[in-house]
Amino acid sequence: MTPSAIIVIGSGLAGLTTTSQLLTHRIPVLLLERFPKPGGNSIKASSGINGAPTRFQPLPSLDSIATFQTDTINSAGGPYISATGAEKARRERLIATLTERSAEGIYWLTDEVGVELSRVARLGGHSVARTHRGSGKKTPGYDIVSTLLGRVSADELFRMETERRVTRILKEEGQEGGRVVGVEYAVVKEGNQTVVEQAYGPVVVASGGFAGDARGLLAQYRPDLAGIPSTNEEREGTQPLLQEIGAAVVDMEQVQVHPTGFVEGGDGEAMVKILAAEALRGEGGILVLGDGRRFVNELETREKVTGEVMERAEKLPTKARQWDVKLVLDEGAAAALESHLGFYMWKGLIRKTTVGELGEEMAALEGTLREYVDVVSGKKKDEFGRESFGNWTITEVKPESVVYVGKVTPVVHFTMGGVVINELSQVLDAQGRPIPGLWAAGEITGGLHGQNRLGGSSLLECVVFGRIAGDEAAAFYKGLAPSAQ
Ligand code: FAD
Ligand code: SIN
Repeated sequence: MTPSAIIVIGSGLAGLTTTSQLLTHRIPVLLLERFPKPGGNSIKASSGINGAPTRFQPLPSLDSIATFQTDTINSAGGPYISATGAEKARRERLIATLTERSAEGIYWLTDEVGVELSRVARLGGHSVARTHRGSGKKTPGYDIVSTLLGRVSADELFRMETERRVTRILKEEGQEGGRVVGVEYAVVKEGNQTVVEQAYGPVVVASGGFAGDARGLLAQYRPDLAGIPSTNEEREGTQPLLQEIGAAVVDMEQVQVHPTGFVEGGDGEAMVKILAAEALRGEGGILVLGDGRRFVNELETREKVTGEVMERAEKLPTKARQWDVKLVLDEGAAAALESHLGFYMWKGLIRKTTVGELGEEMAALEGTLREYVDVVSGKKKDEFGRESFGNWTITEVKPESVVYVGKVTPVVHFTMGGVVINELSQVLDAQGRPIPGLWAAGEITGGLHGQNRLGGSSLLECVVFGRIAGDEAAAFYKGLAPSAQ
């Protein structure tokens, strides 16, 4: 019997991309979302989405699929290097798929979905500028998610039910390990009564990562990160739901700690922080210690920048584990990210001041800025190895020079580990066999990024593997895929 819809779990970018692709194939979709509002972490994305090579990259663009692949492999590090046999081949195919289909993903968003992505910045660990965002006031996550949501919501084959927390994946036992036939989910009714309901159909899981699961999966896999604030709201990871039906997981201990979450005013103890977008550094911003000295190449991978912060900066005397670091921008860097700055200043996270004024609290700052200006102008080589300076424009540092400053600290941000998929977004069991009727895309999956994800590659994986999951699940639904026979 043909089920009435394909079930998509999660309304972030991976879920919405899968949905859009399914609708293109004219397949009905039931999207289940646990929270009242759709969008997940995707809607908060602040720096953009990677693509290489694209027509939006600044000329002369030296980018290529091969360069993007090399950057991704270098960033993935240990887990990629030490993998062998089928596991190595799987990781290679995932990276190849991500990078080979990145430009197509960007053009799908710009030319079909209608999102403008004409600004491109260079983020940490990338050898060229390839992280795309719009030139307008909206941040990239909001822009992409709201446009996509508008597009799928207009389709009569689409039904989204919010406040539905999936609690079980239903699997029918049978030949070759059986197949996934639906889900069970909890609905909170009036009077706080929880009712369990079922929906039947093939399932695409797009329920995100576990960087907000401090008391659950994070405590289990990375107890050493306890007490470090996060950019993620509290939300438990869903990998165990898939493990219950035989899905394999990988790299669960690989958790990304982003170097720059804003330490807000007051006592600064908030455990969920607003992210200081990496694009702030990409467009020219620098990081300094409490006394105003630079200490790192701000465009190294996040893993390395965070490591340097934790080693070199003083710890703040807060209950939350935080370090004393400031992000400093000149007027050029600030102008390149005007809309972000507007929000951060309105929230009191960044203030506009002068070098002279700031020098009163950071004795070494003026000297640091003079040195940096010499590096940007090519008079000196950067002692930390930075080679790209975005839109930094000050050429002469005076006490009255305008700068923007914000207090930042490392924050738990993203989980590289998750359920094992192949390049067709099929979820695999411990023997490497696809579980029929089940696909996954986005941060719920593991292994693609190894020990460090490059900034901008999460939105990209949602688009690339979400589109693949949509195509594959559509073929399965129509009875075309061999596994549906
Ligand atoms: P999400 O967007 O997190 O969506 C998952 C959805 O599933 C959520 O809505 C959740 O409520 C729902 N869900 C979870 N469990 C259940 C359940 N049991 N039942 C029903 N629903 C469930 N990446 C980039 O590439 N570029 C950026 O600029 C960028 N900026 C970021 C900024 C911030 C502040 C943060 C937090 C992350 C950023 N990232 C960025 C990372 C990126 O946004 C996320 O990793 C990515 O969007 C994850 O998308 P997703 O669809 O897999 O999951
Ligand atoms: C950021 O804006 O710094 C986050 C980008 C990302 O996580 O890819």
